[in-house]
Amino acid sequence: MSKKVESVNYGLEKIFEGAQDFLPLLGTDYVELYVGNAKQAAHFYKTAFGFQSLAYKGLETGSKDTVSYVLKQDKIRLVLTSPLTSKQEINKHIVKHGDGVKVVALWVEDARSAYEETTKRGAKSYLEPIVEKDEHGEIVKAGIYTYGETVHMFVERKNYNGTFMPGFVEWISDYNPEPVGLKYIDHMVGNVGWNEMNIWVKWYEDVMGFVNFLSFDDKQIHTEYSALMSKVMSNGNGRIKFPINEPAEGKKRSQIEEYLDFYEGPGVQHIAVATDDIVKAVTDLRSRGVEFLSTPPDEYYNAVPGRLEEFSHELREDLDRLKGLGIMVDADEEGYLLQIFTKPIQDRPTMFFEIIQRMGAKGFGAGNFKALFESIEREQKLRGTL
Ligand code: FE2
Repeated sequence: MSKKVESVNYGLEKIFEGAQDFLPLLGTDYVELYVGNAKQAAHFYKTAFGFQSLAYKGLETGSKDTVSYVLKQDKIRLVLTSPLTSKQEINKHIVKHGDGVKVVALWVEDARSAYEETTKRGAKSYLEPIVEKDEHGEIVKAGIYTYGETVHMFVERKNYNGTFMPGFVEWISDYNPEPVGLKYIDHMVGNVGWNEMNIWVKWYEDVMGFVNFLSFDDKQIHTEYSALMSKVMSNGNGRIKFPINEPAEGKKRSQIEEYLDFYEGPGVQHIAVATDDIVKAVTDLRSRGVEFLSTPPDEYYNAVPGRLEEFSHELREDLDRLKGLGIMVDADEEGYLLQIFTKPIQDRPTMFFEIIQRMGAKGFGAGNFKALFESIEREQKLRGTL
């Protein structure tokens, strides 16, 4: 069933009610990207996004096949991994998908139980539970496949007090650009193929015990040219939110189809990172060379005061400042939110980032979808993929 965007009013209590507790999740542990050149990607995430050096594994630490750089900003941990030889399996992933998210790791109390509970409900195994140890203790890891070749790794670290994980050493660098104020992962969106959204909604319900707490159909998410459908899945405590998109019929090729064509299958479309001060974060990100989608037109910003008034919210930020930075505003009963989207962060038009500041609103910017997709279509037109 599809709910009207205007009537979104789902507090976390509602999420608790429907969700099941066989898979308690404490939060996102890390996100691992397979990339062609991890060393250079790490430099980009430090310089452009303000991530900090955290941990490393590579030839110097005895890892002969792969190299990984772990970066951190507040609660967000990114792992960038590249193969060191042509024989390494990771090459196939990179050849097919380009740079992209391989692992969305989830922090759990008990990784063995998470693996058992999900595989017995139909999850396809990626990694049977393993224990890794070093002088700082041990972690337990286990993994299952989700959409496409993407994996959820369950990470149990209650008996570990090292920097990241066994196998990694602390990465001490002389180059430490300031953070830009990114705090935690708010949500991560997956793109799946035609008619596959409900399959994956059911998968998250049955296998992971998640609930579908928001739905948008193609009547709600469309522009003149294209459309998509989206359902938001959440775990019981609301800390993990995975919207799932699928393309819908439109006059032209939608951004979801473009993604599926270039990623050559389903995968993570965007990582939304939360900040307390989006004006500062976006000012810094822009000055460091991060490229954002084009600013919506004047009509969009002219309508913002009315939209806030409709819900009796007062905008604390200066609207002209937001407009100058291209930050969008959406509101619902509970509050408003500020958000902006980067251009794809690799040459294939696949993954991108969202920067989001929530001022009470629990939605995903549905009121901005049209303006956002029109911005994306302007880019698609330049790429010849609309
Ligand atoms: Fe988002």
